[in-house]
Amino acid sequence: MTQVAHTPRVFSGIKPSGGLTLGNYLGAIKRWVDMQGPDFETVYCVVDLHAITVWQDPAELANATREVAAGMLASGIDPKGSVLFNQAQVPAHTQLAWIFNCVARVGWMNRMTQFKDKAGKNAEKVSLGLYAYPALMASDILLYHGTHVPVGEDQKQHVELTRDIATKFNHDYGVDFFPTPEPIIDGPATRVMNLRDGTKKMSKSGESDMERINMTDDADKIAKKFKKARTDPEPLPETLDGLKDRPEARNLVDIFAALSDQTPEAVIGEYAGAGWGKFKPALADLAVAKLAPISAEMARLMNDPAEIDRLLANGAERAEEIAQPILRKTYDIVGLVSSR
Ligand code: AMP
Ligand code: TRP
Repeated sequence: MTQVAHTPRVFSGIKPSGGLTLGNYLGAIKRWVDMQGPDFETVYCVVDLHAITVWQDPAELANATREVAAGMLASGIDPKGSVLFNQAQVPAHTQLAWIFNCVARVGWMNRMTQFKDKAGKNAEKVSLGLYAYPALMASDILLYHGTHVPVGEDQKQHVELTRDIATKFNHDYGVDFFPTPEPIIDGPATRVMNLRDGTKKMSKSGESDMERINMTDDADKIAKKFKKARTDPEPLPETLDGLKDRPEARNLVDIFAALSDQTPEAVIGEYAGAGWGKFKPALADLAVAKLAPISAEMARLMNDPAEIDRLLANGAERAEEIAQPILRKTYDIVGLVSSR
């Protein structure tokens, strides 16, 4: 087998299943912005086909798709440098996904912890799409020969499955065609926790709006949510070790670190011994300074949905230019006649 050198290409995606949170921003989008530049080609996708694995109201889905795109643009994704589009406009994603459905084994899918968590006791009633979703995610990445996949901690297992699918495909067909992509899970905020319960992930859904920061929250809301965030009575410790078993405190320190591009150690260095009366207002000010301009820009962009649609269409065309030759070659390898 000849070794094929794969040009470094970043691929990542976000589901438009509701509004963006601070978890999406720190765990994904901010890091995607930082990966733009000469080292990588960067491809970023609003994965609307993933969103419909659970019910989405059609009008809300269309709005959320544009809003997620607006969130990426407002955060600094450059639609000229990066390829930014929504998945449904590039049908090759589902075409390759079918082939991967035939590569992935049922036993592998049964081990996906996110499926088990989401399906819970209701596994018989969830959609087939929710079960197959990791094969579609593998297709998203491998359709572009993606090599680097910046995601939050919760997606690690899906990227590992993508590697397994690439390896099995290459092995079964005796080729060295698909790369085995690396999950990039780094920085202090790969798992931003709920502001009311530091043992749960901050997510788009969830009972109370006070448990998450939405990227559309205005300055007052952001400040209020941080000031009311649950903590414990102890002041901040002298070292990071002192935050063990203090999940809420650790989460706020990590958020502070990620927002200010520092390590959690540096934050502790600065605030050792400080009480919440000092730390929380500082965190609220920092978050407002970083997030309020983004939410204002999102609101401005959302006033002109036609412009967002234009950008997405342009991104989809560029995505297709990369994807089509890879899909055609996959068809050839598999023996699917494609004579037009
Ligand atoms: P989703 O909103 O589930 O489509 O997630 C999109 C991206 O945001 C993925 O890379 C997730 O890992 C990341 N993400 C979502 N929630 C969080 C969180 N609470 N902390 C860190 N990353 C997150
Ligand atoms: N499954 C991811 C999530 O729920 C979203 C996603 C879909 C994705 N396709 C992807 C992330 C490809 C990285 C690469 O968050």
